Amino acid sequence: MIIRPLTHYEREAVRSFYLSLSPDDRRKRFCSTVSDDTISKYADRMNFNRDTVLGAFDERMLLVGIAELVHGPGASEMAFSVRPDMRGQKIGTKLLQKLVQRAQMCSVAKVFVQFLSDNTPMRKMASRAGLSVDTVDGESYAARELAEPSSEELAHWHMEENLSRGGYFGTLGLPRWGLLADRSANTKLLEDLAPAD
Ligand SMILES: CC(C)(COP(=O)(O)OP(=O)(O)OC[C@H]1O[C@@H](n2cnc3c(N)ncnc32)[C@H](O)[C@@H]1OP(=O)(O)O)[C@@H](O)C(=O)NCCC(=O)NCCS
Repeated sequence: MIIRPLTHYEREAVRSFYLSLSPDDRRKRFCSTVSDDTISKYADRMNFNRDTVLGAFDERMLLVGIAELVHGPGASEMAFSVRPDMRGQKIGTKLLQKLVQRAQMCSVAKVFVQFLSDNTPMRKMASRAGLSVDTVDGESYAARELAEPSSEELAHWHMEENLSRGGYFGTLGLPRWGLLADRSANTKLLEDLAPAD
């Protein structure tokens, strides 16, 4: 399982992911009934630079889960969605851990998540990650204050991030870099690219 930040180039994958959810899953994710049009507009508005959008990918590199961290004054809101047939495998838990860690490393003071009070998996996930849960009128609000990271934690996190990025791009790029590193193949590639007379 690879978990990494998504970029705006992946907006269509995010839109398709949310559009594929059933009405009940949409209600759980967005805490209200949402139409295709509302989801599409939501995907258009997502800001991949300002906020954090993490994607979880299976071994075929298909998007199977999304976690969002949207920055607000004083606190940042988290939201989660895992593809229905992939639930119960701790993907949600891993996304939550990564998102809280990323928030802390970015000096976010407080994170919170809102969900319907009958959403047992989300409640369990939040409690396990140390968020305290309050429920009022059928809606739950779970929050946790985050401490400033130490310089050691920051250095460790940056190293891990770079390694995982290297791992991901390395996997994608290996065959191509291998080809370019091979001198005979490289010569052939240059010949192929040369304009014909
Ligand atoms: C909430 C959600 C992201 C969890 O994803 P997941 O990958 O299934 O989560 P995990 O496998 O890590 O399970 C989280 C916890 O829920 C429990 N759980 C999973 N499915 C469950 C079920 N059907 N009933 C009860 N508990 C369940 C797990 O045992 C785990 O608890 P534990 O840590 O005490 O063992 C997923 O259910 C989902 O996408 N729901 C719809 C969207 C949503 O509700 N979002 C939250 C509001 S933003």
